[in-house]
Amino acid sequence: MRRRLPRMLACLLIGGGLTAIPPTVGFEQSGRSSLPFHTVLELEQTARLLAVLLDSGRAVINDNQMVLEGSQGKGLTTEAFERQLVDMFRGRAGIDLHELDDTVLAPRTKRLLRALVETSRQVIADLRRDLQPQDAGFTGFIPAVFGARVSARFTDHTGVRLKQTSLTPRNPANRPDAYERGALEAFADSAYPRETVISEMTADSASFRLMFPLYATRHCLDCHGEPKGVVDRMGYPREGLVLGQNAGAISVLLPVKP
Ligand code: HEC
Repeated sequence: MRRRLPRMLACLLIGGGLTAIPPTVGFEQSGRSSLPFHTVLELEQTARLLAVLLDSGRAVINDNQMVLEGSQGKGLTTEAFERQLVDMFRGRAGIDLHELDDTVLAPRTKRLLRALVETSRQVIADLRRDLQPQDAGFTGFIPAVFGARVSARFTDHTGVRLKQTSLTPRNPANRPDAYERGALEAFADSAYPRETVISEMTADSASFRLMFPLYATRHCLDCHGEPKGVVDRMGYPREGLVLGQNAGAISVLLPVKP
């Protein structure tokens, strides 16, 4: 993680506003928050890792879409799911979820990561339990559905809010609030640096917010791609996205007090 620090500071926005603050100014700006800077960094790291973990689960569901569709969802065991999730997260974050005790992460960060793995597993276990033989074929269990189920449960268990959102949400429940909209508009600008999160302390310093951008892969385009307006197999008009374009974000709202 240390390797990523300079970039992380560059996009750490404290006290509101969405203008990028250069790294050195980032340190000074932290004075506006009532929290020590290392606490803000810890919140930033926790929120970012939770977003990467949720997105890794989405990607595993994406990779297994054919398996899910060919076997009434039963082809993907919870063990196989967890193994792939751990591999995907290790590749993306450089952290082994099975060896969390040996990492320098804060205790709360470790606890929340473990809780998110467990919640993700439970969602897969419930899917396997609930699918009926007549559900053969397309189960409708797509990354967004996985993400929404995991997010809802995770919020219930931990008080940390995770949400998938975009400027033109298919599901009204995913509609962005003002902060999320500002970040999504920044991500939508083709000049915006790729994979750079946007984050801030809320005005009352009670919560930390982070927006983690998502990008359209080939698979997403089946539904969200072109031709724009033509209905996809889920029954929604396609958004007309192209490969690599920003496809929305994962929004994290992390209460400062556990
Ligand atoms: C099989 C079609 C399908 C595929 C493939 C798909 N999506 Fe979606 N996506 C949907 C549907 C349907 C929803 C709305 C789900 C709901 O009701 O909450 C959605 C919702 C979303 C949302 C939340 C905002 C909204 O529109 O409600 C984001 C962000 C998103 N998708 C991004 C992606 C990305 C990125 C990929 C590729 C990794 C992807 N999707 C792949 C169909 C798809």
